[in-house]
Amino acid sequence: MRIPLPKQPKAHRSLSARLLLLTIFFVMLAELFIYTPSIARYRKTFLEERIVRARLTALAVETMPEQAADKGLSQILLRSSENYAIIVKHPDRRLLIAPEGMPPKVDATFDIRKNSFMGWIRDAFIALAQTENRVLRIIGDAPKIPGAEVEVILDEAPMRKSMLDYSKRILDLSIAISLFTATLVYLSLQWMMVRPLRRITENMERFRQAPEDETRILEPTRRSDEIGITQRELAVMQEELRLALKQKDRLAMLGAAVAKVNHDLRNSLATAILVGDRLATSPDPEVQRLMPRMFKAMDRAVALCAQTLDYASSAGPTLDLAPFELADVIDLAGEAIIPPDGGSTDNFEWINGVARDVQIMADSAQLLRVFENLGRNAMQAGATRVRVDAWAEAGLVTVELADNGPGFDEKALEHLFQPFAGSARDGGSGLGLVIAREIVQSHGGTIDLARTGPDGSRFRLRLRQP
Ligand SMILES: Nc1ncnc2c1ncn2[C@@H]1O[C@H](COP(=O)(O)OP(=O)(O)O)[C@@H](O)[C@H]1O
Ligand SMILES: [Mg+2]
Repeated sequence: MRIPLPKQPKAHRSLSARLLLLTIFFVMLAELFIYTPSIARYRKTFLEERIVRARLTALAVETMPEQAADKGLSQILLRSSENYAIIVKHPDRRLLIAPEGMPPKVDATFDIRKNSFMGWIRDAFIALAQTENRVLRIIGDAPKIPGAEVEVILDEAPMRKSMLDYSKRILDLSIAISLFTATLVYLSLQWMMVRPLRRITENMERFRQAPEDETRILEPTRRSDEIGITQRELAVMQEELRLALKQKDRLAMLGAAVAKVNHDLRNSLATAILVGDRLATSPDPEVQRLMPRMFKAMDRAVALCAQTLDYASSAGPTLDLAPFELADVIDLAGEAIIPPDGGSTDNFEWINGVARDVQIMADSAQLLRVFENLGRNAMQAGATRVRVDAWAEAGLVTVELADNGPGFDEKALEHLFQPFAGSARDGGSGLGLVIAREIVQSHGGTIDLARTGPDGSRFRLRLRQP
């Protein structure tokens, strides 16, 4: 049989695609953090170099023979240094190399000797943001001449252009790095997480279609990471589920068989009782002596059939939940408890100590069965008095049912709440307590044997309030 694969998320919604985008974003962000100080540094270096070059130009002009200066050589040097003007201020004198015409008006002045880290960053971004050329005056220390300072006047546009070129290079590099990183992240995720996860979901889907099939259980790898743990846990869970299902199937089949046997048995018993009734009229003293024993045995068989059917039906799925007064149900249960042989209840005392205002939320008919079963057990065990008390706290009602019987014997205690196994009574089915517990649990409550001993036993139930 071909099994359709589980639907995978669309490519752009997949885990790896999301991480791919995130990686690109994060790498770009990191690059931005790197770019910011480096563009500031770039501008700083650019300006410092211009100061050094200006100083060299000034040096050349200063040491030049007079006639060379006349021939306009200083103008040529000035132009080739790409500055409008250069001023070198020594402590005692001042050298000005200026064009013949008027130098242009200065738009902004920067002293590169005093600027902070943040100041450099700010100035760099301001420079990048300019649309028009600005004429700048830059002031710096003259290299190697203590106390002297160099001033140059220059255009900002060429510097801005080379800053932009530099930015473009960084951007290209960032894109390349982030694509490269993202691809690596994508591939490793795909390999380490997405593929194994897909394998797990596919397996879950396959398993879901036929949980009894042993071959569909996931074969865990030997990975020691979270995925490995998930795989192993899943495999264990599938195995347990498979066994539980198998068990359940078998029990269900067994249950159906028992119901059928039960039904036929009751018919046979009915016939036997009819025949027995006829036989009982026989005057033969031997028959008269044996008949009551036979009837007793048959009664027990009928009771066993009835209880088994009762148990089978107790797993009924629907509860008829409603709020009601617990004391009413306890009263009803007391009335229903009569000795099995139909004898008198004179020496059995049922004390209902539940206050009138204790309300609970449950299916009252089902709950009645619980108290009937518990009360009847006590009577059968030989108790002459049963007392029921209840109190409410924190949304729960605690009910205690105490008898003065002889206490549980060992066998009953050992198999407490186990179907068919817990009975220590002649003719008992061992279903009474099981049914009681099943009903209480289906109401979300609990039932425990709080204590038992020669002076009596006490059951404690916890039920919900409305
Ligand atoms: N109140 C009690 N006091 C002493 N023994 C009890 C009491 N209730 C139950 N038992 C013991 O627990 C066993 C199981 O009870 P139950 O599940 O109702 O099955 P059954 O009544 O069919 O034997 C009884 O056979 C009895 O030995
Ligand atoms: Mg019983």
